[in-house]
Amino acid sequence: MIRIWGTKFWITCLIVAFFFFLVTFQVVVELGRFEKQKKKGLQDLQQQKQSHSLQIEIQGNVLHRKFENGLGEYPIMLWWSPLTGEIGRLRQCGDNSCFFTINRTYLQHSMTKAVLFYGTDFNIDSLPLPRKWYHEWALFHEESPKNNYKLFHPPAITLFNHTATFSRHSHLPLTSQYLEGLQILTSLEYFVAVEKKNILRKKLAPVVYVQSDCDPPSDRDTYIQELMKYIAVDSYGECLHNRDLPTEVNNPSFMDSAQFYHILAQYKFILAFENAVCEDYITEKLWRPLKLGSVPIYYGAPNVEDWLPSNKSAILASGFSHPKELAQYIKMLDKNDSLYVEFLQWKQNGRISNTHLITAIKERKWGVQDVTQDNYIDAFECMVCTRVWNNIRLTKKGLKEKQWKAEMTHLTCPAPKSFSFLPGRASKSSMRDMWKPSFEQSKKEAQALRLLINRNKNFTTQEFWNLVFKH
Ligand SMILES: *[C@@H]1O[C@H](CO)[C@@H](O)[C@H](O)[C@H]1NC(C)=O
Ligand SMILES: *[C@@H]1O[C@H](CO)[C@@H](O)[C@H](O)[C@H]1NC(C)=O
Ligand SMILES: *[C@@H]1O[C@H](CO)[C@@H](O)[C@H](O)[C@H]1NC(C)=O
Ligand SMILES: *[C@@H]1O[C@H](CO)[C@@H](O)[C@H](O)[C@H]1NC(C)=O
Ligand SMILES: *[C@@H]1O[C@H](CO)[C@@H](O)[C@H](O)[C@H]1NC(C)=O
Repeated sequence: MIRIWGTKFWITCLIVAFFFFLVTFQVVVELGRFEKQKKKGLQDLQQQKQSHSLQIEIQGNVLHRKFENGLGEYPIMLWWSPLTGEIGRLRQCGDNSCFFTINRTYLQHSMTKAVLFYGTDFNIDSLPLPRKWYHEWALFHEESPKNNYKLFHPPAITLFNHTATFSRHSHLPLTSQYLEGLQILTSLEYFVAVEKKNILRKKLAPVVYVQSDCDPPSDRDTYIQELMKYIAVDSYGECLHNRDLPTEVNNPSFMDSAQFYHILAQYKFILAFENAVCEDYITEKLWRPLKLGSVPIYYGAPNVEDWLPSNKSAILASGFSHPKELAQYIKMLDKNDSLYVEFLQWKQNGRISNTHLITAIKERKWGVQDVTQDNYIDAFECMVCTRVWNNIRLTKKGLKEKQWKAEMTHLTCPAPKSFSFLPGRASKSSMRDMWKPSFEQSKKEAQALRLLINRNKNFTTQEFWNLVFKH
């Protein structure tokens, strides 16, 4: 009896261990893939940053010497993540100057007033501890919650004084970070008229999908797989791939080329499904179809309507109870031109009616791929520098400093949910099932982090993981 129980026990253990191995392996592979993409994004940012700073480099060098001589005059902003790659530069922000550096030896310097973090690099194995009472922490995190989940919980996000995130509630909202401007939305550069689209429909599906980041937390691939049962979808990316690009153009850089945009613009509908579902988390997936003159079928930010150019410019998947229903609706629009073109009227008339969107773009203090404006990292640096200076002035006048604190609304996203169309659906990929446990664990990580940082001594990764897995 005991023997049989023992055998069963070991078999169960083996199965569990094997499954665990599978999931872990998937996570590692996925994260690896993700890191690669991330690196590219970072390089782009750094290049942008470097080209931007070229113009002020000469001035910067002079200022740098001034800094070294008059040490103690300018507040030091220490980038704990080597995001900018700048060893040291005195930067002017309006009337204020601050010294920005990635050189960690400055942590001990008495003029170091702020430590700047890039969310993706926020690592528990090296933090600037102990934190002095005058060390303001600032977080720049434009990324999806998919990346560094632990920052998305109140105990972690409230560690920071200043924030720049995709949320409109953060101190420097980056919600529109993938939109260059309003003109590009109303541009007809890629526009294909419905009559032409109807002719092209003989060769093309009504709907197109292009995605190479498969099985993310939003579970979009489950939805689209189901949708494909009811309506034809051309899928060019790695995920649910069913159609090849012409071989001469089949390479990753092509995905961002005008040539490819012309191909996409021929479609009536483009699936625009975010990799995570959180308020204000909106990416190029939404803007691209709008720029091209196709109709986005959107799934992602529940409050996306606040950002759409008009109240009839996108189809929201969340408005349908099942992909089948959505497919029926698309088919109806595909057959009825006058109903279809209603979704493009705003573009053809060149009229953006959403005042919230207009104001957000006009008032943002940074530009996207715009050499005449600061990029969002510059804007973030200057926000922190200016706030630090304002407090220095208050203190000099004998007044109380203004307090800055991140609220939990500055970075938040609900737990990932998967679709459940089929009872007991057989998951094709264990990756799809990984996000929920990973999210749950990240809550414990946030708590452990908070506890250790409150203790205000540096800690080992061992201590951290022991705390996370204590219960
Ligand atoms: C970092 O700063 C210290 C002190 O100013 C300096 O001695 C050191 O050379 C710097 N390191 C680098 C890599 O610039
Ligand atoms: C959509 O916007 C148009 C023009 O701005 C307006 O006339 C119409 O009432 C709006 N429709 C809805 C459902 O809000
Ligand atoms: C298209 O839809 C409109 C509004 O429902 C309808 O009046 C029209 O007859 C339809 N056209 C066709 C060709 O079905
Ligand atoms: C920054 O945050 C810390 C921790 O919450 C707080 O003690 C400190 O007063 C804050 N600094 C400012 C200038 O608000
Ligand atoms: C704490 O930080 C110091 C200085 O950076 C380092 O030498 C030490 O190894 C760290 N201790 C732990 C437990 O990480």
